Amino acid sequence: MHSLLESAGQARALPSPTPPLTVSVRTLKSPRAFSKPFDELRGFIYTVIMARIIVVANQKGGVGKTTTVANLGAALAKLGNHVAIVDLDPQGALTVTFGLDPYEVRPSTHNLLLTNEIPFEKILHQLKGNFYLAPANTELIALEYRLIKEPDRTFRLRNAIGRSRQAFDYIIIDTPPSLGLLTINALVAAQELLIPVATDYLAMRGVRALLESVWFIRERVNPELRLLGLVPTLYRKDSLHSNAVVAEMRKVFRQRVLDTFIPMDDAASAAPAARKSVLDYHPNNKVAVAFMALAEEINHV
Ligand SMILES: Nc1ncnc2c1ncn2[C@@H]1O[C@H](COP(=O)(O)OP(=O)(O)OP(=O)(O)O)[C@@H](O)[C@H]1O
Ligand SMILES: [Mg+2]
Repeated sequence: MHSLLESAGQARALPSPTPPLTVSVRTLKSPRAFSKPFDELRGFIYTVIMARIIVVANQKGGVGKTTTVANLGAALAKLGNHVAIVDLDPQGALTVTFGLDPYEVRPSTHNLLLTNEIPFEKILHQLKGNFYLAPANTELIALEYRLIKEPDRTFRLRNAIGRSRQAFDYIIIDTPPSLGLLTINALVAAQELLIPVATDYLAMRGVRALLESVWFIRERVNPELRLLGLVPTLYRKDSLHSNAVVAEMRKVFRQRVLDTFIPMDDAASAAPAARKSVLDYHPNNKVAVAFMALAEEINHV
């Protein structure tokens, strides 16, 4: 872990093909708010959009990272954003959630990181109009070994996404429950870190270690990276313990804890089995409603 972070720091000196964060310009296709004479100007009206890249990480397993990426992505897309969700976990849970097979799917994020020659768009699967998935293949598990001698190995994702990010409003990255090469690639590529924290036993264990890695990466490699917030997950309103954990989170991390909590409900685990987001599986369910609220909250930050 330490040597990986060191190599991320050293690699900063390398010339990187990633363009600096820019303001992108996209044509408004349906400016419904405009009256008829303005409609005729369709195609000439431009809006200024800043692409946001969010990494969802917590090295503790089973805290709701994948569920958050799937449903926050779906909710942001429902709000009209162009969204790409990226599976960087060799387990491929996000990929399975949307009906693709991580043993079969090619090309995938593995190709993106292995060669840096394939464009990001080429690995995307359209899930809905403005909602895309970059799937993971189980081959990702060997990537760390395959890239061991590559000096830019912590920059692979940043370089790949950097060339395409003006095409999206949000790129949201799912990471494995570890602080290895894949998570570091995501932290180097992203501008914002969202940490799901399960409101259960030992909830905050590991958050401090994650934040230490984040500060290291921010100081040496990626000064754009900032903490978007901690989102309490698997929350049970009637549980004294759940509420005690939230109170403790607020005490330690104060306003870094987002206003939206993701409640625990069977729909969250049933939806992936139906190969859907919770929003499509059961739009009125409290988990779906919470993810819409989280999307609104994040959209307004
Ligand atoms: N709000 C929820 N209510 C009920 N079950 C949930 C909820 N969120 C997630 N789950 C379930 O909890 C389990 C872990 O969730 P998830 O896979 O999103 O966590 P993760 O942090 O991505 O796990 P890993 O670290 O293994 O990648 C899954 O079975 C998921 O369906
Ligand atoms: Mg996961």
